[in-house]
Amino acid sequence: MGSVWFAVVSVLVLVQLSFADAVMKNSCTVSSGNVYVIYPGSDCTVFAQWAINNPSGSLQHCPKGMKFNTEPCQCDLASKVQCPASNPPLDCVDLPPAGISVSGIYNFTVNSQEMTAYCDMVTPGGGWLVFQRRETSIQKPLDFYQGMYAYENGFGQLGFEFWWGLQNLYQLTNPANNIRTYNLRVDLKDFNGKTGYGYFSNFYIGGPSDGYRLHLGGLEEGIIGDSFIGIKNMMFCTRDADCNNMAATHHGGWWYSDDTRSNLNGNGTHQGNYSGDVPDGVYYETFRGIWYSLESTRMALKPLHT
Ligand SMILES: *[C@@H]1O[C@H](CO)[C@@H](O)[C@H](O)[C@H]1NC(C)=O
Ligand SMILES: *[C@@H]1O[C@H](CO)[C@@H](O)[C@H](O)[C@H]1NC(C)=O
Ligand SMILES: *[C@@H]1O[C@H](CO)[C@@H](O)[C@H](O)[C@H]1NC(C)=O
Repeated sequence: MGSVWFAVVSVLVLVQLSFADAVMKNSCTVSSGNVYVIYPGSDCTVFAQWAINNPSGSLQHCPKGMKFNTEPCQCDLASKVQCPASNPPLDCVDLPPAGISVSGIYNFTVNSQEMTAYCDMVTPGGGWLVFQRRETSIQKPLDFYQGMYAYENGFGQLGFEFWWGLQNLYQLTNPANNIRTYNLRVDLKDFNGKTGYGYFSNFYIGGPSDGYRLHLGGLEEGIIGDSFIGIKNMMFCTRDADCNNMAATHHGGWWYSDDTRSNLNGNGTHQGNYSGDVPDGVYYETFRGIWYSLESTRMALKPLHT
């Protein structure tokens, strides 16, 4: 009995948090006056779970003029119809929130282009679109010493070790294409199980004619420090589209400069302390130094206002 009650309370708490997370979404009022949230294109059966206090109510009356939806929305819980998708989902925050949708691979339409991305719906708040991941302790880590074509189009296995692609990143994050402003979250782990994360504001990538230039604000939160200092506003470099031979000596693809303090796409075979003429491991100076190659890394993005 006690555990059932706990489960019910947990669900209610979860739903409350989800509402708070979703203030920018389309809200719908049910007859009792409770406010629910409708995501464009979502299935009303999902929202049946939300209507715990109102099992027979129907969701209706989506106010017009909200930022991401201008169409009225009608959902009839009894017939479980599909909500009209006035806007297809753009990124992971358009999915139903953490606890309802699962982490995994989802399709999005950005500037009428289809793209497939891995969404983390668990890590604080959910709604994170993961665009880079390393797991260097596996037997055959993925080779990140790739050319520009691979970095533009992405490589690896979504949801495991992969690079999502500069073209996708540009389409989604560039303010000229999309009104959303993104935060960057970086997660790092060393070989002793020490972990750290950092949130950075205002992450976006320039277009191909601008060398996929990195635009990034400061560290807002987290313990890893800012090792992007020195590469902000730099172009993306690869061994075949190099900048001062930096990709060729650092064995990766990155926004290199003369003051490079991070190399998360570097050589993953070093595993911990290493030495050499040029630091080429998977490093982040303010976490474990440039002569320590990390076990795992993850870079993810999420719109600012959610
Ligand atoms: C996503 O798009 C891919 C490629 O177009 C397609 O094969 C897959 O079925 C789509 N997945 C979903 C969930 O729609
Ligand atoms: C990565 O480092 C290993 C040694 O740890 C070396 O054998 C390998 O050639 C390096 N790979 C690249 C692309 O430099
Ligand atoms: C790695 O380097 C650090 C700093 O130089 C040192 O304290 C540590 O003992 C080294 N660890 C190993 C396993 O060599």
